[in-house]
Amino acid sequence: MARLVLFFFGPPGSGKGTQSANLSQQLGLPAISTGNLLRQHYQSIGEHNAAMNEGQLVSDDLINKLLVERLNQPDAQSGFILDGYPRNKTQFDYFYNNIINPDDKICAIEISVSDQEVQHRIAGRRFCPKCGAGYHLTYKPSLQADRCDDCQTRLEQRPDDSPETIQERLALYRRTMGPLVVSWWQLGELIIINGEKNIDSVYHDILSVLQERGLVPPKSEIV
Ligand code: AP5
Repeated sequence: MARLVLFFFGPPGSGKGTQSANLSQQLGLPAISTGNLLRQHYQSIGEHNAAMNEGQLVSDDLINKLLVERLNQPDAQSGFILDGYPRNKTQFDYFYNNIINPDDKICAIEISVSDQEVQHRIAGRRFCPKCGAGYHLTYKPSLQADRCDDCQTRLEQRPDDSPETIQERLALYRRTMGPLVVSWWQLGELIIINGEKNIDSVYHDILSVLQERGLVPPKSEIV
C-alpha cells in the first residue's frame, strides 16, 4: 500500500508539534514525535535522560528502535507524520534504507523560524502532563490560568525549555540539519514554510502546498 509519509522539521519551538497535531486530526494519520516517544520511554522506566535535559541528541539506536516499534502499530499502516525525525544523516539513511517503501508518497516540511522567535515561543510554552495538550502563555493560552482546558490538570514547563538549554538545542539544530535539507531538496521532497505567521496561517500554508502537490485531497474532500 502506498503510504503518505510527512516529515516535519525546524528549530525547537518552531511549531512542529502544533502543526503535525493539526494535520493528524485532519488527515486521520498519527503524528509521531520522537521527543514524545523518548519522554514516554524514560517515564515508563522511571529515569531521566541527561542528554535530553542538556539539549543533546539521544543515541540513534534507541531512537530507531522506538520509532520502528511505533510504526508497527496498526494506526500507522496507511501513513504517518514524523515530528523531529530524522535529526542527522545516520537517521536519515536508516529511514531511507529500512523503513521507506518505493511507492510511498513523501514530503519534508521545514518550518522556518528565527532564533529570536524560538526563544519567545519556548519561554511561553506550557503542556499538560496528564493528556499532553500544548499551550502558549501568549499565543495559545488556556482558558483558566495554569490549567489544562480538557482535564484541568496544572500545566507545566518542559525541563529542557530553560534559557540555557534552548541555546544548546538551537546550536545543535543549526549544525546538524544542513545535510538533511540538501538531501531532501535533491530528492525533490522539500517544502519550506514561513513559520513566523500565526498558527492558523502556518497551517493553511502547509495544507495548501500539500494540496498543490496532490499529496492530500482538496479541503472540501477531507473528512
Ligand atoms: P523534541 O520534543 O522533538 O523537541 P524540539 O525539536 O526541540 O521541538 P519542540 O518540541 O521544542 O518544539 P516544536 O517545534 O514541536 O514546537 P511546538 O509546536 O511545541 O525533542 C526533545 C529532545 O528529545 C531533543 O532535544 C533530543 O534530546 C531528543 N530527541 C528527539 N528526537 C530525537 C531524534 N530523532 N534523535 C535524537 N534525539 C532526539 O510550539 C512551541 C510553542 O510555540 C508552543 O507553546 C505553541 O503553542 C507555540 N506556537 C507554535 N506555533 C506557533 C505560531 N505559528 N505562532 C505562535 N506560537 C506558536
